[in-house]
Amino acid sequence: MSRMTRRTFIGTGSAALAAAASLRTMVSARAAGANEKLNVALIGCGGMGRYKLGNFCDSKQCNVVAVCDVDDKQMNEAVALVQAKLGTKPEKIKDFRKVLERKDVDAVIIATPDHWHAIPMILACQAGKDVYCEKPCCHNIREGQAMLAAAQKYNRVVQVGTHQRSMPHIQAAREFVQAGKLGLISMTNTYTYGNNYPTNLGNDPDGPVPEGVDYDTWLGPAPKRPFNRRRFHSTWRWYFDYGCGMVGDWNVHLQDIIMWSLGVQAPTAVSTSGGHLLLEDDRDTPDVMQAVYEFGPVPKLAPKGFVQTYTMRKTSGKPWSCGGYGMDLHGTNGYMHMERGVWRLEADREDWDKAAMGQDSPFRIEGFKKEAPGADGEAHLAHVLDFIQCVRTRKAPIANIESHYHSVVSCHLANVSLMVGRKIFWDHNRVLCFKDRELTQQDTEANNYLGREYRKGFELPKV
Ligand SMILES: NC(=O)c1ccc[n+]([C@@H]2O[C@H](COP(=O)([O-])OP(=O)(O)OC[C@H]3O[C@@H](n4cnc5c(N)ncnc54)[C@H](O)[C@@H]3O)[C@@H](O)[C@H]2O)c1
Repeated sequence: MSRMTRRTFIGTGSAALAAAASLRTMVSARAAGANEKLNVALIGCGGMGRYKLGNFCDSKQCNVVAVCDVDDKQMNEAVALVQAKLGTKPEKIKDFRKVLERKDVDAVIIATPDHWHAIPMILACQAGKDVYCEKPCCHNIREGQAMLAAAQKYNRVVQVGTHQRSMPHIQAAREFVQAGKLGLISMTNTYTYGNNYPTNLGNDPDGPVPEGVDYDTWLGPAPKRPFNRRRFHSTWRWYFDYGCGMVGDWNVHLQDIIMWSLGVQAPTAVSTSGGHLLLEDDRDTPDVMQAVYEFGPVPKLAPKGFVQTYTMRKTSGKPWSCGGYGMDLHGTNGYMHMERGVWRLEADREDWDKAAMGQDSPFRIEGFKKEAPGADGEAHLAHVLDFIQCVRTRKAPIANIESHYHSVVSCHLANVSLMVGRKIFWDHNRVLCFKDRELTQQDTEANNYLGREYRKGFELPKV
């Protein structure tokens, strides 16, 4: 097993940074011709990484030249996938910095856990690579700022994996809202429900690090601690050391569509209630959450602002309206529900106790349904195709980091409010929390949660 110690990480890290710095003036590590296949590499070969790798293979526009993971088993599975789909064998590289040193790599797919997005993304930008980065792009708001700055400074194409933007029915729903057809909007809701009671993650004791895993590097910027399967592949997302809980994991998709539809960049205030109330495991992210956002005025759509709520339960699965997740927009003309396969519209009534609205009702839109069969799988591929196209044209992809930054910041703010146990007011321009609506008293306690402590040797690169 080739184990990369933290000492070697720091050592080669400086070398890699120096190498990356020398590449900064280059437009791209390798400018692929318009019809030439792109050379891509995957960093993080887990569930989503392999799914995305399949999309890049299916695009028929890419060679997969390398796959990278700190777990040999995950890397081997990614190699097998590429062999099955493309008939080629990518190089296996355990240290992602060596991927970035390869001059033939045009773009990297980053599908590591959330705490391992910012460092490789920034170094990739510095090395002249374009980046397809999984959502939420960052583990905290300060990382998001640094990633945004890196993409802009090094002129990189960065697509974030909020693939709902690539769903035609979601785009149509957004156009419907933006055209004012739903009327004036005062409230929107997003929600995710499920029932994992009583012991979703279990309570197995710490154990040995699995063969072939460089666990110290897996931990990276997070604090050192004994190995436990609960905090490892896939379920790391329920621990703040590595993930952001449901609001960053799932609501980032939903919040993104609400904010994109309304055309807003940031809430003015956020108040969150919740906690780890019922599940009998040691997660530290909540199993119940209610976040209430206040957004300022939106010309023609929400003249005095609107309220957005995110409701999350992992303790009771009965849906509020349609499925186990969704996005609702409430307008003066009617109600719109969106999910990954459908959007539905229902005209409002003057009186919901009456069976139907009368002929002379002021509400003029008819209810209808717009189905999008197979939307999720097709949208993943469409999202990748959009990225590939933008790498070639240097245009902004549909979920570029500039717009994703706003949605992800909103999700992180819900966690910040939860941590401090009160409402916070947000200054989008100064990127700071305040205690008052007039933004005169900085909220020092809340602002401490905008970043994280980085373990020595795994600090955020300077942009
Ligand atoms: N777009 C979507 O709908 C969607 C769905 C699921 C997950 N995701 C996102 O994809 C990302 C990965 O999630 P997942 O469920 O696949 O997690 P996972 O735990 O299954 O996979 C993560 C992989 O990254 C590897 N890794 C960790 N540190 C590394 C490092 N320094 N270098 C190389 N590899 C490293 C791990 O060993 C693991 O194999 C997350 O950010 C998650 O939020 C997005």
